[in-house]
Amino acid sequence: MAQTVVVIPGDGIGPEVMEAAVKVVKASQAPIKWQTHVLGMQAIKQEGTAVPKETLAAITKHKVALKGPTTTPTGTGHISANVQLRRQLNLYACIRPVITLPAVSTRYNNVDLVVVRENTQGLYQGLEIEPAKGISIAMKVVTKQGCQRIAEAAFAYAQQHKRRRITIGHKANILKANDGMLLQQTQRVAKKYPDITCDHRLVDALCMQLVQDPTQFDMLLLPNLYGDIVSDLCAGFVGGLGLVPGANLGKDMAVFEAVHGTAPDIAGRNCANPLAAIQSACLMLHHLSYHQQAHRIQAAVQTVLRQQHMRTVDLGGTATTTDFTQAIVENMK
Ligand code: NAI
Repeated sequence: MAQTVVVIPGDGIGPEVMEAAVKVVKASQAPIKWQTHVLGMQAIKQEGTAVPKETLAAITKHKVALKGPTTTPTGTGHISANVQLRRQLNLYACIRPVITLPAVSTRYNNVDLVVVRENTQGLYQGLEIEPAKGISIAMKVVTKQGCQRIAEAAFAYAQQHKRRRITIGHKANILKANDGMLLQQTQRVAKKYPDITCDHRLVDALCMQLVQDPTQFDMLLLPNLYGDIVSDLCAGFVGGLGLVPGANLGKDMAVFEAVHGTAPDIAGRNCANPLAAIQSACLMLHHLSYHQQAHRIQAAVQTVLRQQHMRTVDLGGTATTTDFTQAIVENMK
């Protein structure tokens, strides 16, 4: 029986890269029935709200979604549709594998990192007040239970994927109680996993050490804000935001999406790299136990990348999004 997956085209380059991802998954012959729903600016235009109830209900019902990026206005405007989605569906664990693709050369070789970002707590609750003119306060709220469950998710992932080490990035020297809570709860959970090393770094020093040599790390566990920033930093090690996929996981729901945003600077030009969306679709296929189909896609991606001429602009080529996608599809035949 076909699995229904909710597909959200999103804004900016979203529709372009999502069309590519759906096309490639169809070519893999995974038994998926797609159901399109809207979110973000597209939803505001069509439904008058960034997060329509129908979209939430569809994901709740079918449990799995493949999502394109959505625009969040800067400084003013609606609350992030992403933040609302992740909070309302309790998608607390964001998992982002950052792995060097064999045919993509950068200044760094053999990067193989997994960034685990806490997805529902911290500053991303958007709790801001202005108690007096010229003063603004943003609240960084974390709970013991929230810290425990992201730590459990990180260790469970490490065990399942045979990872050996988790490094917590924090600022518990300054935010002693707040970041200290993630540190303490993770160290408690770590006791149940004696085969997995658990260490920690102040997040500023962690960034410096990552830039010096990202291969010295295995998995990183970070609170929401640091996880957001460090994910983009790590994407730079393997060729940029056009390549890095992600999964937002809750207890029984999963929304897969690239790390990148809507890339307004290149939207509508058929030049975005669809690989991050395609790789997110592969994570989704693995999640659904369609491993064979995911491997077929990944093999085709590697073959196409090895043909040096077939690359999108971000990787130094001239291929369009559609040509690059078509080349992957052709290689799966
Ligand atoms: P961005 O990730 O959209 O773009 C940063 C840079 O990376 C740009 O130069 C862009 O052209 C490039 N880039 C991103 N994806 C690419 C791809 N697939 N192929 C080639 N180049 C790519 O980040 P930015 O500009 O900070 O944010 C733009 C909008 O996206 C904002 O409204 C932001 O809130 C939203 N956003 C949404 C996310 C989501 O829905 N999950 C995640 C991050 C940002």
